[in-house]
Amino acid sequence: MTTSPSTVRPPAVVPSVLPADFARLGEDLTALETAGVDRVQWDVMDGRFVPNLTVGPDVVRCARSETSLPFEAHLMVEEPDWSLPAWLRAGCETVIVHAEACRHLHRSLALVRDAGGRAGVALNPATPLTAVEHVLDVVDLLLVMTVDPGFGGQAFLPATVAKVAAARQLLDERAPHVDLEVDGGIGPSTIAAVTAAGATSAVVGSALFARRDDLAAAVADLRSAAVAGRVAA
Ligand code: DX5
Repeated sequence: MTTSPSTVRPPAVVPSVLPADFARLGEDLTALETAGVDRVQWDVMDGRFVPNLTVGPDVVRCARSETSLPFEAHLMVEEPDWSLPAWLRAGCETVIVHAEACRHLHRSLALVRDAGGRAGVALNPATPLTAVEHVLDVVDLLLVMTVDPGFGGQAFLPATVAKVAAARQLLDERAPHVDLEVDGGIGPSTIAAVTAAGATSAVVGSALFARRDDLAAAVADLRSAAVAGRVAA
């Protein structure tokens, strides 16, 4: 059974600033806010958990005053506990850790919450949902990766759609308040599938920055594409 567009809410559009021009970061953030995105994701990579290296909390702190958009930090970082307070102090409302990178995942998530943040947990495509079923009491956001993390512009993994749907069912049954976010290869041709599967937030990097000159239209097109797949026949 399909549903009409009026009853389907598109997911929050969360640009990853991985593809941003870091020589003009303030301008890019202002343009994203003007374009109507919901919040911003900082992709943090340590060169160990993923074969890439990006930004630290100081960059986020400097960018904080450039926009009123909420910030979230996606920590693709081994054993991130030591750094969690720094991301919150830098101005992130949400900090996302990878289940695969935390020796004591429940403790890591509780540390974020105890420091006043929203706690997110991310799963690589190969990691089963059972990795988070015993920490849902300290989770505000579940990030289901739709690529293997480390780089922008990668091809969406279609096999992850079933995992998004299974995550939706798990959250509906056990933790309906948790935001279900997807990340990797999300664009106009893939956002309908993950929305239909139950995603409530979509991280988009290259598909947005490819349209840097008409960001508002790109954001609107993503929202339209998200619900177009569920228009009543
Ligand atoms: C992990 C990163 C990327 C990025 C989005 O590699 O988390 O997924 O945010 O990149 P795109 O939207 O270009 O696939």
